[in-house]
Amino acid sequence: MTTSRVAIVGGSGRMGSWFSQYFKDKKYSVVLSARNREKLIAAAKKLGVSYAENNVEAVKNADLVMVSVPISSTVSIIKEIAPFLNPKTILFDIASVKGDIPKTLEEQSLKYGFKAVSVHPMFGPGATSLKGHTVAIIPIPGSEDAAAKLEQLFSDDGARVVVTDGKTHDRMISVVLGLPHFLNILFGAALLEVPEAISQIREFSGTTFELQLLLAECVFGEDPELYSEIQMVNKDFVNFLGKLEKVFSDLKKTIEQNNEVVFFKNFERVREKLAQDTKYASAYNNLYKIIKILKNG
Ligand SMILES: NC(=O)c1ccc[n+]([C@@H]2O[C@H](COP(=O)([O-])OP(=O)(O)OC[C@H]3O[C@@H](n4cnc5c(N)ncnc54)[C@H](OP(=O)(O)O)[C@@H]3O)[C@@H](O)[C@H]2O)c1
Repeated sequence: MTTSRVAIVGGSGRMGSWFSQYFKDKKYSVVLSARNREKLIAAAKKLGVSYAENNVEAVKNADLVMVSVPISSTVSIIKEIAPFLNPKTILFDIASVKGDIPKTLEEQSLKYGFKAVSVHPMFGPGATSLKGHTVAIIPIPGSEDAAAKLEQLFSDDGARVVVTDGKTHDRMISVVLGLPHFLNILFGAALLEVPEAISQIREFSGTTFELQLLLAECVFGEDPELYSEIQMVNKDFVNFLGKLEKVFSDLKKTIEQNNEVVFFKNFERVREKLAQDTKYASAYNNLYKIIKILKNG
């Protein structure tokens, strides 16, 4: 990879800052852009990189352009900067939900003659490096060489790269992000129905609650804008909610009717699916390992 100049649109944000540091450590020259000037200057100063007056100025002459803005702004930002990219430029977004993004990248890259890739780093800004983390790469027709370059770049740094297409990505994201986020939001909302304070509830807490609370506290510690987009922008997740509603109402009926036969049968069906997971056999031991870490602080 011979890229030397990287522009990050949304560079003052969490992932933008993370990737600024990543590229800076790799000796790339980094330039950031964003709307709020004060925040942008503060981020650039803190990271020791430069900033531009606007998105278009940032991306001119860049070898690599990363779009790291909220999911619902990504398509319009791609369209804003596309006319100013060189034929040698690789443009990539990192949105958590793809929707129309791959199609827009394809149209714009063919129209203006640059290279494009859609990327999803499957980790948050708390990651200390790429090592052991998954990065999904969606190649864009006409830019397959650029997808191969980014795959090489990230896998050289220890990432597990999954090459996929936009539709599969969003369907799987509805399962691996949409669903667990939803269940934790539901859990948190259900706690509002309990009059006792968390400290009082905790006095009765066993291992399952302890771990569930940890997950919910992490989810509610996140940015509501990103989390609402992951729930609402992904059409696959919105459709999946219909299935979830049926699962909920069937289970509710089974419990209300005290129907042990159906309960056991469903329990067994789920157990069979989960048992296909290579980590299934060690799940119980792993739970206690985590609890031990939590107890020892
Ligand atoms: N956070 C995560 O855990 C995570 C993980 C994987 C992927 N992602 C994806 O990464 C992207 C960014 O997420 P984030 O969590 O880093 O969000 P963030 O912290 O809110 O950062 C968004 C950045 O975009 C800028 N921005 C917004 N609108 C803009 C515009 N029109 N022009 C230029 N800059 C603009 C914001 O600054 P101004 O408001 O000042 O313009 C800010 O710098 C999203 O697509 C998200 O799905 C996030």
